[in-house]
Amino acid sequence: MIRASSALYAVIGDPVGHSLSPVLHNYMINEFGLNAVYVAFRVPKSSLRRCLDSFKILGLSGINVTVPHKETVCQYVDDSSDEVKTLGAANTLKIQNDHISAHVTDPYGFLESLGTDKERFIDAPVLILGAGGAARSVLFALSKLNPGKVFLYNRTLEKAQILAQEAKKIYDLDIQTIEQTALSSAISQSSVIVNTTSVGMSPDYNKSPLQDFSAFSQQHYVYDLIYNPGKTRLLFKAEHRGSKIKNGLDMLIFQGLQSLRIWMDENLSLSEKQLKELRGLLRSELGG
Ligand code: ATR
Repeated sequence: MIRASSALYAVIGDPVGHSLSPVLHNYMINEFGLNAVYVAFRVPKSSLRRCLDSFKILGLSGINVTVPHKETVCQYVDDSSDEVKTLGAANTLKIQNDHISAHVTDPYGFLESLGTDKERFIDAPVLILGAGGAARSVLFALSKLNPGKVFLYNRTLEKAQILAQEAKKIYDLDIQTIEQTALSSAISQSSVIVNTTSVGMSPDYNKSPLQDFSAFSQQHYVYDLIYNPGKTRLLFKAEHRGSKIKNGLDMLIFQGLQSLRIWMDENLSLSEKQLKELRGLLRSELGG
Protein backbone atom coordinates (compact mmCIF):
# COMPACT_ATOMS: atom_id res chain seq x y z
CA MET A 1 0.00 0.00 0.00
CA ILE A 2 1.19 3.55 -0.72
CA ARG A 3 1.38 5.62 2.47
CA ALA A 4 2.37 9.20 3.30
CA SER A 5 5.58 7.69 4.64
CA SER A 6 6.35 5.70 1.46
CA ALA A 7 9.74 6.39 -0.11
CA LEU A 8 9.53 7.61 -3.71
CA TYR A 9 11.76 6.25 -6.48
CA ALA A 10 11.62 7.08 -10.18
CA VAL A 11 13.14 6.52 -13.58
CA ILE A 12 13.89 9.59 -15.69
CA GLY A 13 14.45 9.60 -19.43
CA ASP A 14 13.12 11.01 -22.68
CA PRO A 15 11.19 9.13 -23.92
CA VAL A 16 10.32 7.04 -20.88
CA GLY A 17 6.80 5.84 -21.66
CA HIS A 18 7.91 2.32 -22.60
CA SER A 19 10.31 1.84 -19.69
CA LEU A 20 9.89 -1.49 -17.89
CA SER A 21 11.55 -0.11 -14.75
CA PRO A 22 8.29 0.76 -12.90
CA VAL A 23 6.96 -2.79 -13.39
CA LEU A 24 10.32 -4.31 -12.42
CA HIS A 25 10.85 -2.19 -9.33
CA ASN A 26 7.28 -2.21 -8.04
CA TYR A 27 7.35 -6.02 -8.29
CA MET A 28 10.54 -6.15 -6.21
CA ILE A 29 9.29 -3.50 -3.74
CA ASN A 30 6.19 -5.62 -3.19
CA GLU A 31 8.06 -8.93 -2.92
CA PHE A 32 10.63 -7.51 -0.50
CA GLY A 33 7.88 -5.81 1.56
CA LEU A 34 9.41 -2.34 1.22
CA ASN A 35 7.47 0.84 2.08
CA ALA A 36 8.13 2.48 -1.28
CA VAL A 37 6.71 3.29 -4.69
CA TYR A 38 8.40 3.68 -8.09
CA VAL A 39 7.18 5.91 -10.94
CA ALA A 40 8.43 7.29 -14.29
CA PHE A 41 9.04 10.92 -15.27
CA ARG A 42 9.73 12.15 -18.78
CA VAL A 43 12.50 14.69 -18.37
CA PRO A 44 13.71 16.63 -21.44
CA LYS A 45 17.44 17.40 -21.62
CA SER A 46 16.89 21.09 -20.95
CA SER A 47 15.14 20.36 -17.61
CA LEU A 48 17.53 17.76 -16.18
CA ARG A 49 19.30 20.00 -13.71
CA ARG A 50 16.10 21.66 -12.45
CA CYS A 51 14.48 18.24 -12.08
CA LEU A 52 17.28 16.96 -9.89
CA ASP A 53 16.93 20.06 -7.69
CA SER A 54 13.18 19.44 -7.47
CA PHE A 55 13.75 15.80 -6.52
CA LYS A 56 15.92 16.96 -3.62
CA ILE A 57 13.21 19.39 -2.48
CA LEU A 58 10.47 16.77 -2.79
CA GLY A 59 12.57 14.21 -0.94
CA LEU A 60 12.81 11.44 -3.56
CA SER A 61 15.10 8.64 -2.36
CA GLY A 62 16.51 7.28 -5.60
CA ILE A 63 16.47 7.72 -9.35
CA ASN A 64 17.23 5.48 -12.30
CA VAL A 65 18.57 7.37 -15.27
CA THR A 66 18.10 6.27 -18.85
CA VAL A 67 18.61 7.64 -22.37
CA PRO A 68 19.54 10.47 -23.03
CA HIS A 69 20.75 11.48 -19.55
CA LYS A 70 23.20 8.75 -18.49
CA GLU A 71 26.31 10.80 -19.31
CA THR A 72 25.06 14.36 -18.70
CA VAL A 73 23.72 13.55 -15.25
CA CYS A 74 27.26 12.95 -13.98
CA GLN A 75 27.87 16.73 -14.06
CA TYR A 76 25.04 17.44 -11.64
CA VAL A 77 25.74 14.98 -8.82
CA ASP A 78 27.67 15.50 -5.59
CA ASP A 79 29.80 12.38 -5.84
CA SER A 80 30.30 9.41 -8.15
CA SER A 81 31.40 5.82 -7.64
CA ASP A 82 34.71 4.71 -9.15
CA GLU A 83 32.77 2.79 -11.83
CA VAL A 84 30.86 5.94 -12.84
CA LYS A 85 34.17 7.82 -13.09
CA THR A 86 35.59 5.04 -15.28
CA LEU A 87 32.56 4.64 -17.53
CA GLY A 88 31.56 8.32 -17.65
CA ALA A 89 27.91 7.31 -17.21
CA ALA A 90 25.46 6.66 -14.39
CA ASN A 91 22.12 4.88 -14.23
CA THR A 92 21.40 5.02 -10.48
CA LEU A 93 21.27 8.06 -8.20
CA LYS A 94 20.89 7.84 -4.44
CA ILE A 95 19.53 10.95 -2.72
CA GLN A 96 20.25 11.37 0.98
CA ASN A 97 20.13 14.63 2.99
CA ASP A 98 20.22 16.84 -0.11
CA HIS A 99 23.22 14.90 -1.42
CA ILE A 100 23.17 12.95 -4.70
CA SER A 101 25.59 10.08 -5.30
CA ALA A 102 25.87 8.46 -8.72
CA HIS A 103 26.31 4.74 -9.39
CA VAL A 104 26.22 2.48 -12.42
CA THR A 105 24.69 -0.98 -12.22
CA ASP A 106 24.76 -2.14 -15.87
CA PRO A 107 28.08 -4.04 -15.62
CA TYR A 108 26.79 -5.80 -12.48
CA GLY A 109 23.54 -6.61 -14.24
CA PHE A 110 25.50 -8.22 -17.06
CA LEU A 111 27.75 -10.19 -14.69
CA GLU A 112 24.93 -11.45 -12.46
CA SER A 113 22.77 -12.36 -15.46
CA LEU A 114 25.44 -14.84 -16.57
CA GLY A 115 25.02 -17.12 -13.57
CA THR A 116 27.08 -20.25 -14.17
CA ASP A 117 27.68 -19.16 -17.80
CA LYS A 118 30.40 -16.88 -16.35
CA GLU A 119 32.71 -19.86 -16.75
CA ARG A 120 32.30 -19.70 -20.51
CA PHE A 121 34.20 -16.39 -20.50
CA ILE A 122 37.31 -17.49 -18.59
CA ASP A 123 40.28 -17.55 -21.02
CA ALA A 124 37.74 -17.59 -23.86
CA PRO A 125 38.05 -15.55 -27.07
CA VAL A 126 35.14 -13.07 -27.04
CA LEU A 127 33.68 -11.02 -29.90
CA ILE A 128 31.89 -7.80 -28.93
CA LEU A 129 29.63 -6.12 -31.48
CA GLY A 130 29.24 -2.35 -30.97
CA ALA A 131 31.30 0.38 -29.35
CA GLY A 132 28.78 2.61 -27.57
CA GLY A 133 27.83 2.97 -23.92
CA ALA A 134 26.54 -0.60 -23.61
CA ALA A 135 29.79 -2.00 -25.08
CA ARG A 136 31.73 0.06 -22.56
CA SER A 137 29.73 -1.51 -19.69
CA VAL A 138 30.25 -5.01 -21.10
CA LEU A 139 34.02 -4.46 -21.47
CA PHE A 140 34.14 -3.29 -17.86
CA ALA A 141 32.27 -6.46 -16.81
CA LEU A 142 34.56 -8.61 -19.00
CA SER A 143 37.59 -7.30 -17.15
CA LYS A 144 36.25 -9.15 -14.07
CA LEU A 145 35.89 -12.44 -16.00
CA ASN A 146 39.47 -12.93 -17.24
CA PRO A 147 38.59 -13.61 -20.86
CA GLY A 148 41.22 -14.49 -23.49
CA LYS A 149 41.50 -12.29 -26.56
CA VAL A 150 38.67 -9.79 -27.12
CA PHE A 151 37.66 -8.84 -30.67
CA LEU A 152 35.77 -5.56 -31.00
CA TYR A 153 33.71 -4.85 -34.11
CA ASN A 154 31.74 -1.68 -34.76
CA ARG A 155 30.08 -0.19 -37.86
CA THR A 156 32.21 2.92 -37.29
CA LEU A 157 35.73 1.56 -36.97
CA GLU A 158 37.15 4.75 -35.38
CA LYS A 159 34.79 4.42 -32.41
CA ALA A 160 35.91 0.84 -31.89
CA GLN A 161 39.54 1.94 -32.05
CA ILE A 162 39.00 4.66 -29.44
CA LEU A 163 37.18 2.29 -27.08
CA ALA A 164 39.80 -0.43 -27.59
CA GLN A 165 42.62 1.98 -26.68
CA GLU A 166 40.78 2.92 -23.52
CA ALA A 167 39.89 -0.68 -22.65
CA LYS A 168 43.50 -1.78 -23.02
CA LYS A 169 44.63 0.81 -20.51
CA ILE A 170 41.75 0.93 -18.03
CA TYR A 171 40.38 -2.60 -18.13
CA ASP A 172 43.64 -4.32 -19.01
CA LEU A 173 42.06 -6.44 -21.76
CA ASP A 174 43.87 -8.02 -24.71
CA ILE A 175 41.66 -6.37 -27.28
CA GLN A 176 41.80 -6.12 -31.07
CA THR A 177 39.50 -4.11 -33.34
CA ILE A 178 38.32 -5.79 -36.53
CA GLU A 179 36.76 -4.69 -39.80
CA GLN A 180 33.69 -6.07 -41.56
CA THR A 181 35.81 -8.30 -43.80
CA ALA A 182 37.33 -10.05 -40.78
CA LEU A 183 34.02 -10.77 -39.05
CA SER A 184 33.52 -14.38 -40.13
CA SER A 185 37.05 -15.25 -39.12
CA ALA A 186 36.54 -13.54 -35.71
CA ILE A 187 33.31 -15.51 -35.19
CA SER A 188 35.14 -18.77 -35.95
CA GLN A 189 37.93 -17.83 -33.56
CA SER A 190 35.53 -16.82 -30.72
CA SER A 191 33.47 -18.94 -28.38
CA VAL A 192 31.45 -16.05 -26.91
CA ILE A 193 29.71 -13.32 -28.93
CA VAL A 194 27.98 -10.35 -27.28
CA ASN A 195 25.80 -7.92 -29.24
CA THR A 196 25.69 -4.51 -27.60
CA THR A 197 24.28 -2.64 -30.62
CA SER A 198 20.62 -1.73 -30.91
CA VAL A 199 20.34 -3.46 -34.30
CA GLY A 200 17.44 -5.92 -34.32
CA MET A 201 15.51 -4.19 -31.56
CA SER A 202 11.73 -3.89 -31.91
CA PRO A 203 10.29 -2.94 -34.37
CA ASP A 204 13.30 -3.85 -36.59
CA TYR A 205 12.85 -7.61 -36.16
CA ASN A 206 14.46 -8.41 -39.52
CA LYS A 207 17.70 -6.56 -38.87
CA SER A 208 20.90 -7.98 -37.44
CA PRO A 209 24.37 -6.56 -36.74
CA LEU A 210 25.73 -9.59 -38.69
CA GLN A 211 24.58 -10.82 -42.11
CA ASP A 212 26.56 -14.04 -42.48
CA PHE A 213 25.72 -16.66 -39.86
CA SER A 214 27.57 -19.56 -41.44
CA ALA A 215 30.42 -19.44 -38.89
CA PHE A 216 28.09 -19.99 -35.91
CA SER A 217 28.22 -23.45 -34.36
CA GLN A 218 27.43 -25.46 -31.22
CA GLN A 219 30.66 -24.09 -29.73
CA HIS A 220 29.22 -20.57 -29.48
CA TYR A 221 27.51 -18.77 -26.63
CA VAL A 222 25.67 -15.78 -28.12
CA TYR A 223 24.39 -13.06 -25.79
CA ASP A 224 22.24 -10.23 -27.20
CA LEU A 225 21.66 -7.33 -24.80
CA ILE A 226 18.34 -6.67 -26.57
CA TYR A 227 15.29 -8.06 -24.71
CA ASN A 228 12.58 -6.89 -27.10
CA PRO A 229 12.08 -9.05 -29.10
CA GLY A 230 13.04 -11.90 -26.78
CA LYS A 231 14.72 -13.63 -29.71
CA THR A 232 16.38 -11.24 -32.16
CA ARG A 233 17.28 -12.30 -35.69
CA LEU A 234 20.86 -12.75 -34.46
CA LEU A 235 19.76 -15.10 -31.66
CA PHE A 236 17.33 -16.93 -33.92
CA LYS A 237 20.02 -17.62 -36.53
CA ALA A 238 22.64 -18.55 -33.94
CA GLU A 239 20.26 -20.95 -32.20
CA HIS A 240 19.38 -22.48 -35.55
CA ARG A 241 23.06 -23.35 -35.98
CA GLY A 242 23.23 -24.94 -32.53
CA SER A 243 24.66 -22.07 -30.48
CA LYS A 244 23.53 -21.45 -26.89
CA ILE A 245 21.72 -18.12 -26.75
CA LYS A 246 20.74 -15.54 -24.13
CA ASN A 247 18.79 -12.28 -24.37
CA GLY A 248 19.06 -9.11 -22.25
CA LEU A 249 16.03 -9.62 -19.98
CA ASP A 250 18.04 -10.96 -17.03
CA MET A 251 20.55 -8.12 -17.39
CA LEU A 252 17.65 -5.68 -17.12
CA ILE A 253 16.38 -7.47 -14.00
CA PHE A 254 19.77 -7.66 -12.29
CA GLN A 255 20.80 -4.08 -13.01
CA GLY A 256 17.49 -3.06 -11.39
CA LEU A 257 18.06 -5.33 -8.41
CA GLN A 258 21.53 -3.81 -7.96
CA SER A 259 19.98 -0.29 -7.95
CA LEU A 260 17.56 -1.39 -5.23
CA ARG A 261 20.44 -2.84 -3.18
CA ILE A 262 22.26 0.51 -3.41
CA TRP A 263 19.18 2.47 -2.37
CA MET A 264 18.24 0.14 0.50
CA ASP A 265 21.82 -0.61 1.53
CA GLU A 266 20.79 -4.25 1.82
CA ASN A 267 21.93 -7.39 0.01
CA LEU A 268 18.53 -8.23 -1.47
CA SER A 269 18.17 -11.23 -3.75
CA LEU A 270 15.49 -12.82 -5.89
CA SER A 271 14.59 -16.49 -5.53
CA GLU A 272 14.37 -18.69 -8.65
CA LYS A 273 10.58 -18.56 -8.29
CA GLN A 274 10.54 -14.75 -8.11
CA LEU A 275 12.93 -14.51 -11.05
CA LYS A 276 10.69 -16.73 -13.14
CA GLU A 277 7.59 -14.76 -12.19
CA LEU A 278 9.32 -11.47 -12.93
CA ARG A 279 10.51 -12.64 -16.35
CA GLY A 280 6.92 -13.63 -17.16
CA LEU A 281 5.60 -10.28 -15.97
CA LEU A 282 8.11 -8.34 -18.05
CA ARG A 283 7.51 -10.52 -21.11
CA SER A 284 3.76 -9.93 -20.87
CA GLU A 285 4.41 -6.17 -20.57
CA LEU A 286 6.37 -6.45 -23.81
CA GLY A 287 3.41 -8.19 -25.37
CA GLY A 288 4.72 -11.73 -25.57
P1 ATR B 1 24.22 2.35 -26.20
O1 ATR B 1 24.39 3.23 -25.01
O2 ATR B 1 22.93 1.55 -26.20
O3 ATR B 1 25.41 1.50 -26.48
P2 ATR B 1 25.10 4.14 -28.25
O4 ATR B 1 26.19 4.62 -27.34
O5 ATR B 1 24.34 5.13 -29.07
O6 ATR B 1 24.00 3.34 -27.44
O7 ATR B 1 25.75 3.01 -29.24
C1 ATR B 1 24.98 2.36 -30.19
C2 ATR B 1 25.82 1.26 -30.84
O8 ATR B 1 25.01 0.57 -31.80
C3 ATR B 1 27.01 1.79 -31.60
O9 ATR B 1 28.03 0.81 -31.58
C4 ATR B 1 26.45 1.94 -33.02
O10 ATR B 1 27.40 1.90 -34.07
P3 ATR B 1 28.11 3.26 -34.58
O11 ATR B 1 29.16 3.58 -33.57
O12 ATR B 1 28.65 2.92 -35.91
O13 ATR B 1 27.02 4.32 -34.64
C5 ATR B 1 25.59 0.70 -33.10
N1 ATR B 1 24.55 0.84 -34.11
C6 ATR B 1 23.41 1.55 -34.02
N2 ATR B 1 22.68 1.44 -35.15
C7 ATR B 1 23.39 0.63 -35.98
C8 ATR B 1 23.18 0.09 -37.29
N3 ATR B 1 22.07 0.38 -37.99
N4 ATR B 1 24.12 -0.73 -37.81
C9 ATR B 1 25.24 -1.06 -37.12
N5 ATR B 1 25.49 -0.59 -35.87
C10 ATR B 1 24.60 0.24 -35.31
